[in-house]
Amino acid sequence: MDKFVIQGPAALEGSIRISGSKNASLPMYAAAILAREQPLVLDNIPRLRDVFTMLEVLGVLGVESNWTDEHTVSLDATGGIAETAPYELVRKMRASVNVLGPLLARLGQARVSLPGGCAIGTRPVDLHLKGLAALGAVIDVEHGYIVARADKLRGARINLLGANGPSRGATANVLMAAVLAEGVTVIEGAAREPETADLCNLLNAMGADIEGIGESTLTIHGVASLNGVEYPVMSDTIEAGTYIAAAGITRSKFVLENCPTAMMEPINSVFTRAGIRLQELDDGRLSVDGTDGLRPVEARTAPWPGFPTDMQAQLMAMCCLAPGISVFTESIYPDRFMHVPELVRLGALITRDTATAIVHGVAGLQGAHVMATDLRASAALVLAGLAAQGETQVLRVYHLDRGYEGMELKLQALGADVRRVSED
Ligand code: UD1
Repeated sequence: MDKFVIQGPAALEGSIRISGSKNASLPMYAAAILAREQPLVLDNIPRLRDVFTMLEVLGVLGVESNWTDEHTVSLDATGGIAETAPYELVRKMRASVNVLGPLLARLGQARVSLPGGCAIGTRPVDLHLKGLAALGAVIDVEHGYIVARADKLRGARINLLGANGPSRGATANVLMAAVLAEGVTVIEGAAREPETADLCNLLNAMGADIEGIGESTLTIHGVASLNGVEYPVMSDTIEAGTYIAAAGITRSKFVLENCPTAMMEPINSVFTRAGIRLQELDDGRLSVDGTDGLRPVEARTAPWPGFPTDMQAQLMAMCCLAPGISVFTESIYPDRFMHVPELVRLGALITRDTATAIVHGVAGLQGAHVMATDLRASAALVLAGLAAQGETQVLRVYHLDRGYEGMELKLQALGADVRRVSED
């Protein structure tokens, strides 16, 4: 297990490249199962632990993956495909459940382990199953596995809206089954995030017929088969947002390259209110300037076009140093506050009342040993460590490696003193 050792406070400058989107790409690997005749080639792929886990899942199913350059992977599903995604792999990453829809569409059957619990609360898959059942699948849960069978998938009208809003995972799964179903499927309450739109665009490039991309109602006209194509995955809005928070918390100015600026309005608007100056340059470059100082904000997480839950922890870390009171309300995962006690160990002043956290800005943070048990909480602690006086050790960066490509390398490139060290 590795840890990050950070000497703060850091002053950052220069430029870094934002990687391809983890969350956009994860269902896309599963989409490779739908291309029987040619490989699917995905560009702008981030080299992340979650991506390698997904490729392992696909490998077990019979999809061969080859990296043709550092950020391009070719996925070949032209051979025999197996129906079982085993527990040992699915438990490592919930997004593995994304193979369910494509397996059903290709084989007429699928056996996928239930993903199980996770550190940010209960995350059910009822909407995934409801959607696939509406397309005609018969679904049972047997010995911890979702077992789905369908002689033929048939288009249907499906409302996927859950109690906490739309589900990105369920929308992806149902989409990847519906593209090859007979007839027309209408998904109401679909996720509208740019990552879901990117999946729709990939599927259309492969020959699918999806209308309403980016809207909450998607209409899918089933087609007989899909082709392998070459497709560039969008860049990662959450990684970009995390580095915007880094500029704010260190009062620095630098440039993000390969930045998905067109898809960042919900993130950018909140950071702008918090005092960060953001300026779009040419060619996907974004100038990020936190030198004016921070202002407190109120932020409520919500599905697109709201502020993403995946940015809540990082924004909160930054606001620990904003003079005044910032208020955070989590509407998607009410328990997603594991970073709060650890930020407090670094000197932050935060109180929590169920799904709301109130941050009283402090003048400074002090280095300490901290640890988080999920990806974005870990990122928040690294950000706080950049601003804290003295040495901060963020233990178990295993979680960070799931979702940030070379975070210590990018921070070093900006001038931070961050080292990856083995914990043993
Ligand atoms: C995706 C993101 C994750 C992000 C989350 C919320 C990926 C790989 N992960 O996760 O980073 O934090 O969106 O934006 O893209 N729900 C149900 N029943 C279901 C499915 C979901 O009730 O069958 C609920 C969830 O508990 C949650 C909400 O719906 O409260 C949204 O979840 P969902 O969009 O499905 O999250 P993921 O796709 O798993």
